[in-house]
Amino acid sequence: MSKVTVVGAGKYGSTTVQRLAEADIADEVVMTDIVEGLPQGLALDMNQSRPVLGYRTLVTGTNDYSDTAGSDVVVITAGLPRKPGMSRMDLLGVNAGIVTDVVNQLMEHSPQATLVVVTNPLDQMTTLAAEVSGLPRSKVMGQAGMLDSARFAHFISEAADVDILEVEAVTLGSHGDTMVPVPSLCKVGGKLLSDVLDAATIDELVDRTRKGGAEIVGLLKTGSAYYAPSAAAAKMVEAILTDSGATMPVCAWTEGQYGIEGVYLGVLAKLNASGIGEIVEVDLTDSETAALREAAVAVKEKVEDLKQI
Ligand code: APR
Repeated sequence: MSKVTVVGAGKYGSTTVQRLAEADIADEVVMTDIVEGLPQGLALDMNQSRPVLGYRTLVTGTNDYSDTAGSDVVVITAGLPRKPGMSRMDLLGVNAGIVTDVVNQLMEHSPQATLVVVTNPLDQMTTLAAEVSGLPRSKVMGQAGMLDSARFAHFISEAADVDILEVEAVTLGSHGDTMVPVPSLCKVGGKLLSDVLDAATIDELVDRTRKGGAEIVGLLKTGSAYYAPSAAAAKMVEAILTDSGATMPVCAWTEGQYGIEGVYLGVLAKLNASGIGEIVEVDLTDSETAALREAAVAVKEKVEDLKQI
């Protein structure tokens, strides 16, 4: 009996639930939120799509953590978006409070769960969830790298005018300014990215990828991206639930890889039933390694902010 919980029935959470249910890889997906009726209504609606699409996974909508008991994997999307007038530290304080409360309640009912954190600011929230849960660091991870890599792949496919499925793109590091694109691992139809696009174009695409979330927020006016983010989170859950060992870019606890330790950072890792089975250290150029180390320093500094709230 496999069970996944998604905390937060907003755009990101509910779309993740939908993707997981339609993938038909869990017996039950629980969706919980503080808003009464919201997860229940969405769950009812999703369950009624089962005969049309032909899948069995049952979605349970609830406001009660006892319904989440015995979850194998939990995705944490609960949080508030930054509102006008709110400083970065204000947002950090609010979402840190939410994530602390959510993790404490989850652990009461699912002490063995693997946690996938998506609430922003991602690096701090993943670190906080690991600390509050007391779980081994290998069982707590964040989603960011797969989304950034997917955005990069999309931009490459457009610029090079190639089939999206022919593009392999990898970004490591952190979400945002210290994202580390790894052109040496990017391929287009089996060719190196640098053989297909010129350096100036690659730089433009990297910059657009770094600002990928903001571009969508600017267009939507309210709310942020959730289709590609939920696709990435659901893929991570699938790898854990099916013990696949698939390698993907995730925010994982480093223990000496690339000369970096003691910080959650975007790296390639194999995901399996134990969570992060193993961080896969790939050959990077000197400048890519330096950028990754810089990203680690930046994340460590940001994590220090947690002590001030
Ligand atoms: N417990 C459960 N749910 C909560 C809690 C809580 N303590 N606090 C807030 N929520 C719920 C809200 O009620 C809302 O339904 O979290 C949901 C957030 O949904 P949206 O505002 O639609 O935000 P969403 O786009 O889903 O993004 C969620 O992911 O990408 C990040 O920056 C984004 O941190 C944000 C998170």
